[in-house]
Amino acid sequence: MPYAAFRSIGAFVPEKIMTNKDFEKLIDTSDEWIQKRTGIKERRISNEDEASSDLGAKAAKVAIERAKIDKDEIDLVICATVTPDYLCMPSTACLIASKLELKPVMAFDISAACTGFVYALSIAKAFIESGMKKNVLIVGAETYSSILDYTDRATCFLFGDGAGACIISATEDKSEAFIDIECSSDGEYEDLIKTPGGGSKHPCSQEVVDNKMACIKMKGNETYKLAVKTLTSGVQDLLQRNNINIKDITHFIPHQANYRIIKAVGESLGLDDSQVVVTIDKYGNTSAASIPMAMNYIYEQNELKAGDTIVFDAFGGGLTWGSALIPFAPIK
Ligand SMILES: CC(C)(COP(=O)(O)OP(=O)(O)OC[C@H]1O[C@@H](n2cnc3c(N)ncnc32)[C@H](O)[C@@H]1OP(=O)(O)O)[C@@H](O)C(=O)NCCC(=O)NCCS
Repeated sequence: MPYAAFRSIGAFVPEKIMTNKDFEKLIDTSDEWIQKRTGIKERRISNEDEASSDLGAKAAKVAIERAKIDKDEIDLVICATVTPDYLCMPSTACLIASKLELKPVMAFDISAACTGFVYALSIAKAFIESGMKKNVLIVGAETYSSILDYTDRATCFLFGDGAGACIISATEDKSEAFIDIECSSDGEYEDLIKTPGGGSKHPCSQEVVDNKMACIKMKGNETYKLAVKTLTSGVQDLLQRNNINIKDITHFIPHQANYRIIKAVGESLGLDDSQVVVTIDKYGNTSAASIPMAMNYIYEQNELKAGDTIVFDAFGGGLTWGSALIPFAPIK
């Protein structure tokens, strides 16, 4: 039976930096408040001519090079995004495949908000283990700046733009295989994080534009509490059922939404700070891109080695949540 192996990681961030000080000119806030409540210092913002597929294709290029495979060997492209280039079609995955000049390939987007990357890993694992696909390109790409209301002081300073990508390939070597992955959702909480307008429920209209209903609306405080709960219990379940001790985790890579959430989850799980990857200070919350961007960060710091055991842990709008236990298995 083929297993799924995590071969490579890559990322791309736009050049333009928006600092907390820049937000002081837009909303009633302060650099000190944002840093204290979230850990965020700055985030990246796309240029007007950079859409999610542009960021995603650049991240993918790096991941393909590092995987040491020919791009023509890729037989599935999954893009996790809630900020696609186009509302309905074509999918951002199709655009990324085209920008990379891949041969005709199955390509689709998935929408699981900030949990999108973990959902995509789960889908890639299923395609590979079933024998249907051999090399899956996953891209998490977001341009949140396109759905932010820069007058909403409760939300706009949290998010940023960026992309991360990875290659998941078939292997016969069980020591390289994904150990476990679990994803879930609860639509009862649909109102916690939402873009209420522009879809089939409230199609684009003057009302949608006037009330900025195509922008993200969030109940931050309620989201915060649920985030800590789901992020903690997801990992506890995963470790327990695989009989793995928290001390055996080399890198805990959580979704980067708020440093206080990351810290609270790390403490509940009994993690040492040295195990926990934090990049929120540099990039803010980049939704489906946040986990692969954080993984790329430690890779580029030479902190990620073959055989390291990684836990990914995410939650997001939907609500959705998911955790994965995976060894890093680059081609030697
Ligand atoms: C958004 C978030 C940072 C707000 O922090 P919080 O501690 O919950 O803050 P609250 O909303 O309770 O507001 C506390 C105070 O700060 C004020 N405040 C809100 N936004 C502010 C801002 N941008 N700058 C300064 N003060 C602000 C509020 O008015 C309130 O003032 P009051 O005490 O005088 O009434 C936090 O709730 C959060 O990160 N939530 C999770 C969001 C998340 O993860 N979303 C993504 C999911 S993938």
